[in-house]
Amino acid sequence: MSSSIDSIEHRGLLGDDSEKTRHNEKSLIQSFTRYYTDSRLHKVILFLLSISIVLNVVLAALYLRTLSPSETPTKYAQMKRVREEPYVIVTPYSSDNETLQDELWYNINVDSAVVALSDDWAAEHGLRKAQRFPWDQSKGIYILHGYHNLHCLKIIYISMSESRRGVPQTRSWHHVSHCLDALRRQIICDADDTPRATDRRVEVVSGLLQHRQCRSWDQLEAFAKQHTACYKRPENPDEKKASKLDRFKHCPPDSGYIVTDNYVSTEPLLEGLPEESIQDHV
Ligand SMILES: *[C@@H]1O[C@H](CO)[C@@H](O)[C@H](O)[C@H]1NC(C)=O
Repeated sequence: MSSSIDSIEHRGLLGDDSEKTRHNEKSLIQSFTRYYTDSRLHKVILFLLSISIVLNVVLAALYLRTLSPSETPTKYAQMKRVREEPYVIVTPYSSDNETLQDELWYNINVDSAVVALSDDWAAEHGLRKAQRFPWDQSKGIYILHGYHNLHCLKIIYISMSESRRGVPQTRSWHHVSHCLDALRRQIICDADDTPRATDRRVEVVSGLLQHRQCRSWDQLEAFAKQHTACYKRPENPDEKKASKLDRFKHCPPDSGYIVTDNYVSTEPLLEGLPEESIQDHV
């Protein structure tokens, strides 16, 4: 009896259960189908959204490019034009105070010009291999062009200043004319097309109240420091006789380079580096 009740109860329970299960299975299949359909729809929507986002980014980039083509960063230090400056008549470098003028020009320091770049980095940036950097044979020695130009301008200033003071020339005419030619080439290469407005005024000057967009020299300096070749010219020009290798022994503490005194170079070092010293003010 009890067993039959049990079995009835069981059956009942089982019957209920199997009905429930069937119902559950049905709704499960339904919801699965719904879920599957939903998720497929989701996927399609997501896919379309992704395409839309990608297209938006591409179009925005293209639009910004046409808006400011000068904003393409430079090839090596990735610099953009980040500051604006006016065209001016004088700066302290052309001050009437010749003491100040000399001080400024003679103190232009281009030691940072000399950098050590790995061959991999050079190849990635389309640069050719350069002479070996003593403290890391996988790197070459390069001179940053902007510093080279600045060095040239300084050489010319020094020569003219010496001529003006009637003292002997410390720079060869060969070096001075090379520098003039280098700057001439730079100007021709830049072919700057900015029209400078003229005024009816006594001073020979144009472009007043106009501005230009400039890159940051500090940023270039930071790039140079980041790739330092530990280079420093001798304080005294007489030290030119000293080993040129000595110029590369000024590594900052965190450079990771190990400077040795018994380094023997496999090739002649250092053609074409700036010769003037910051301290050789007569
Ligand atoms: C000229 O410049 C030097 C160096 O900066 C300064 O010591 C001197 O006072 C200046 N002279 C005048 C007249 O301003």
